[in-house]
Amino acid sequence: TVRPSDPAGGEALAVVLEGLRRLEYRGYDSAGVALVVEREVPSGSADGVPLGAHELRVSKRAGRLARLVEALEADPVPDAAAAIGHTRWATHGGPTDANAHPHTSADGRLAVIHNGIIENYAALKAELLEQGVVFTSQTDTEVTAHLLGRAAASHLGRVGQPDGPADPATALADAMREVCAGLEGAFTLLAVHADAPGVVVGARRNSPLVVGLGEGANYLGSDVAAFIGRTRSALELGQDQVVTITATSVDVTGFDGTPVVPRAFTVDWDAAAAEKGGYQWYMDKEIHEQPKAVADTLLGRTDASGALVLDELRMDTAVLRRTDKIIVIACGTSAYAGHVAKYAVEHWCRIPVEVELASEFRYRDPVLTERTLVVAISQSGESMDVVMAVRHAREQGAKVLAICNTQGSTIPREADAALYTHAGPEVAVASTKAFLAQITACYLLGLFLAQLRGNMFADEVRAVLRQLHQMPDAVQTVLDRTEGVRELARELADSKSVLFLGRHVGFPVALEGALKLKELAYLHAEGFAAGELKHGPIALVEEGQPVFVIVPSPDSRDSLHAKVVSNAQEVRARGARTIVIAEDGDDAVLGSADLVVRVPRVPTLMAPLVTVVPLQVFAMEVASAKGLDVDQPRNLAKSVTVE
Ligand code: G6P
Repeated sequence: TVRPSDPAGGEALAVVLEGLRRLEYRGYDSAGVALVVEREVPSGSADGVPLGAHELRVSKRAGRLARLVEALEADPVPDAAAAIGHTRWATHGGPTDANAHPHTSADGRLAVIHNGIIENYAALKAELLEQGVVFTSQTDTEVTAHLLGRAAASHLGRVGQPDGPADPATALADAMREVCAGLEGAFTLLAVHADAPGVVVGARRNSPLVVGLGEGANYLGSDVAAFIGRTRSALELGQDQVVTITATSVDVTGFDGTPVVPRAFTVDWDAAAAEKGGYQWYMDKEIHEQPKAVADTLLGRTDASGALVLDELRMDTAVLRRTDKIIVIACGTSAYAGHVAKYAVEHWCRIPVEVELASEFRYRDPVLTERTLVVAISQSGESMDVVMAVRHAREQGAKVLAICNTQGSTIPREADAALYTHAGPEVAVASTKAFLAQITACYLLGLFLAQLRGNMFADEVRAVLRQLHQMPDAVQTVLDRTEGVRELARELADSKSVLFLGRHVGFPVALEGALKLKELAYLHAEGFAAGELKHGPIALVEEGQPVFVIVPSPDSRDSLHAKVVSNAQEVRARGARTIVIAEDGDDAVLGSADLVVRVPRVPTLMAPLVTVVPLQVFAMEVASAKGLDVDQPRNLAKSVTVE
């Protein structure tokens, strides 16, 4: 986040630290800032530096933001007109003070921060080393500091000359464009230079960067959350663009210098929505926001007669009508939302649905045609694995529809169409409310397709929509009853391993329950298709092994319910301690359960929205009982912007 403020003396550092704090949820291992301050010339010194000249100050530390703040308190830096700040998640070079960003040029005049990976850094570094440049870190980023430093010195040296840049800001932007042209890979770069006070230049390729427009101040952030406390008015940047901001101006060009008019948008999150609201953890707050996340995602998507309207998709209905295959691509929890949706969409639309992890998608040479609809699900809209999969799909001629929670993010912008989930900002690294909102949005899409293609009558679509509209209340009921699960979590906190079984839509719920426990409680956990149990996993079961069993509604078709109850019995007979998630009034489970967790009675396809909730609460409570950081588990990042 950057605030080049007025020359009267800025508060850029304070704003940057606030922005970094707001982005802490993304997960990071080091933090740093750089700012251009007025040079202090000791009285009587004759070092030849003109009064009023500026110098660069950099402070950076491995570890939490608090360590950086301590360092800044111990060695105060005057606040300034412009500042840049960064939280790092190590890729090249471990999390050390030296590897933390910003990185500086050899002359100490330029500082740069970077998200992403410079893929050709090794070749660039070899060249620079040959020329005698000394490197002080193991990062790929440092090559950009040296390259930009040199380019900036040359362009700044020509300011005011007949064919030179008009001002230092233009010179710095020229340097950025020149250097970016030689970089490969994914990057967001921001740079400040001591000879261009009050100016920040940024560039983006394949990594997020958004502009915030304030009054007498402008901002850059990798997420609107960074500047949401300051402004809601924002600009989207496209690929291969360079942006130059000062307190009063924003200029955008392509890497080739062509001027660009960026698209403006208003952020509809407010700052309060991104704060903890009285809960100990963001995750707890977000779990409790799930009824609202589902309700808000449904809001405004039906007309007065109760029929589904998704005009916002802005996708040619002819494309949707001719779709003969759907491929869902996503990562982590979002992929499990897709997995749930597969059951519903195939049932409603009779279109084959494949669900593929985004990181695997393009490597298997997927069969895509112009009749394939690729649905990319991503809370952040920035997961690099998904971004690359989206591009691959489009290159192969498939149409891409993004289901996304974050406006202004890369995935919906690059997709052919977007359907937003309205979960609000999700801060805890482990996804919860976004998952429920994603299932809801996928269901809306499935019903819309079924309506459009005539697979369902309007009345049938309306009936399912009514069921969906009842889900916020059903989720609330589950939330009102979590005490038993919380107690169980405290009791099982020292378990070595926990297993989860489910069938049909309960299978992805089992996978999600296991993922939550791995992410938050660092506990070995696995989810299995209940029927697959006897083909291997049952060998894991020994005396006292906790096994969660997600039991479908007794109203389900094809004796689904009875099958899963038998599976629960099979593990219990072998000593497992079974925790059965079952509907109110389902007494058939009593004989196979050590503990029954009750959820309200809902139609089979709606069940994931309620059955996953006790599993989320369980994982959160186990982590909490173990004294772990629920919101920022080790080694994880909220938004993984590298492949
Ligand atoms: C990270 C997060 C997960 C999330 C996944 C996909 O791994 O830790 O919680 O499910 O990314 O994120 P996305 O933003 O694409 O939904």
